[in-house]
This record gives sequence, structure tokens and C-alpha cells, in this order.
Amino acid sequence: MKLEKVLVVGAGTMGHGIAELFAMAGYQVYLSDINQEILDNALSKIKWSLDKLQEKGQLKESASNIVSRIKTVVGLNESVSDADFAIEAAIEKLDLKRQIFSKLDELLPAHAILATNTSSLSISKIAEATKRPEKVVGMHFFNPPVLMQLVEVMKGEKTSDETAKITYELAKKLGKTPIMINKDVPGYVVNRILGEIISASCIILQRGIADYLTIDAVARYKLGFPMGVFELLDYTGIDVNYYVSKSLEEYGIKSPCSALFEEKVKKNELGVKSGKGFYSYPAPGKYSKP
Ligand code: 3HC
Repeated sequence: MKLEKVLVVGAGTMGHGIAELFAMAGYQVYLSDINQEILDNALSKIKWSLDKLQEKGQLKESASNIVSRIKTVVGLNESVSDADFAIEAAIEKLDLKRQIFSKLDELLPAHAILATNTSSLSISKIAEATKRPEKVVGMHFFNPPVLMQLVEVMKGEKTSDETAKITYELAKKLGKTPIMINKDVPGYVVNRILGEIISASCIILQRGIADYLTIDAVARYKLGFPMGVFELLDYTGIDVNYYVSKSLEEYGIKSPCSALFEEKVKKNELGVKSGKGFYSYPAPGKYSKP
């Protein structure tokens, strides 16, 4: 299958990193979002990240060459209609994702695969919004996509073996280690496991058994995690985790963290992005070890 042009829908936390990865692997990338300000912000994060990798000698070509392969697009329109592969990285809301997929189905050529970076929603339900459910697949990256090695490839009920295989091979071309998940289950594998760890941490916190610093010390110094559990929630975004917990509730999976996340979201304590979550960050938007 011809696969030269990739469309990334959503230039936020995950989308910009995914666009960067595809551009690093030599693909022409359209990066789309609802306004130019979000796109400019995404481009500056991509440049920062590429400069870091360049400083460390981890790029095969110049950072500016890589950036030149990314074209920003406001909205979804005819200008992206020659994309061979699309990946959606919008917020975790089924209705929104279905609207995007319906539009992609209308705009993109018949051979194009439509992937979603969802971390919890049903691929089959997203695919129902298109006339090509066999070409709809999950491709779940982890934050930050450039550094995290794992990619989950998830099949919906109607995803063809060919679509899943192309997506799996594509993840390898990006230098990742993909895993194939054949069942369309909420949260797939990583978020099922991570979700249990986060839930247990919230219960321990809420029952006053230990504070978040103590729980994070256990995660880092006993379990060997690169970040504490609450540090990771701040890093990935408490709003993102809130939407994930809400969407899992629709499948009957109730998270003991929901109320805590909701309270923090209401106070705009979203983690790194707002400068305060469980920890404080002196420069909002920039991660620094708490
Ligand atoms: N691009 C390039 N370089 C980056 C970068 C990026 N996006 N992000 C961080 N770096 C750099 C840092 O600047 C630093 O560079 P330096 O050595 O020159 O200072 C270097 O990478 C190492 O970073 P740090 O010293 O800050 O910290 P760590 O050694 O801990 O590495 C980390 C950072 C790779 C993010 C590591 O902490 C980690 O693996 N954390 C866990 C992340 C994780 O689990 N993510 C998955 C979350 S779940 C998810 O995403 C699912 C979703 O659906 C919600």
C-alpha cells in the first residue's frame, strides 16, 4: 500500500509528538487542529524536542529538515485529501472522535487507513462512524511518543488483518516496539494495568494510609518506575486522566480516582500544563522533576 503522507488530527500533548515521530521517519505530515495558535504551540514543542535529540546526536538529519516535512492545517479540509494514513489524537470523547472519523472517511482516499490514538474507547464504536470499518484501527502511543518505546495496535470487530498488520509494521518503521491486541476491550492492556496501579494509589491516598509523596517514593524506589504515580498523572495531564476515567465508566469500569480528578480539573490543577497538579511546576507547560 502507498504510504507517504500522514495526517495527524489533534496537535495537543500526544498529537504533536506523533507528528514529530512520523516526520523523523521520513513521512510527509499534515498536522491539523482547530486554530493556528494551537498549531504554532505544537510546532515550537516539536522544535524544542528535535533540538534536544539533535544535541544528543540522535537524529539522522538536521532538525530543520525534519520540521520542514510538517505542514500545519487549520480544520479538516480538501488540503489533506491525499493522506494515505490518518491518526486522530483528539481528547477522549467518543462523539468528537466519531465526528472526526466521519469527516476523514469523506475526505481521504479509499486506500487510506484511519487510526485512533484512543487510550480507552472502543475501536468498533469509532469505526461505526465510517463506511470503511475494516480500515479503522487503534494505534496507541505513550507520552512522550518520541521517547516511549511501546505502541499498542488495537483491532476493532471489523478491522481487517491487513490493516492491523500495516499499522503494526508502521510502528516498527517509526522505531517502536508494537504489541497487537486482538480484542476491542476498554483500556486495552496498558491502561488496564496502569489503571489498576493508579486506582490502588488513589484508594491508599483517600483512606489516609499514605500521602502522594510516600506513594510516589514506593513507585520510584521499590517498583522501579521512572516517575511516581502522581507525578505521572501530572505529566500526562489530570484532565486527560479524568476523561479516560469518565469514558471507562461508560463501560462499567468505575475509577476510585474520578472524584479526585474532577476536583482538580475544576480548580485548573491539571498538572505540568497548568503549573500545578499534585506537585507545582515553576514554568507551566515545562516538566521539571518535582
Ligand atoms: N523530546 C526530546 N527529549 C525529551 C523529551 C521529548 N519529548 N522529553 C524529555 N526529554 C529529555 C529531557 O529534556 C532530558 O534531557 P537532558 O538529559 O538533556 O536534560 C531527558 O529527556 C531525560 O529526561 P529527564 O531527565 O527529565 O527525566 P527522565 O530520565 O525521567 O526521562 C521520561 C523522562 C522519558 C519521560 C521518563 O520519566 C519516563 O519514562 N516517564 C514515564 C512516562 C510514561 O510512563 N508515559 C506513559 C504515560 S501513559 C500514557 O501516555 C497513556 C495515555 O493514553 C494517557
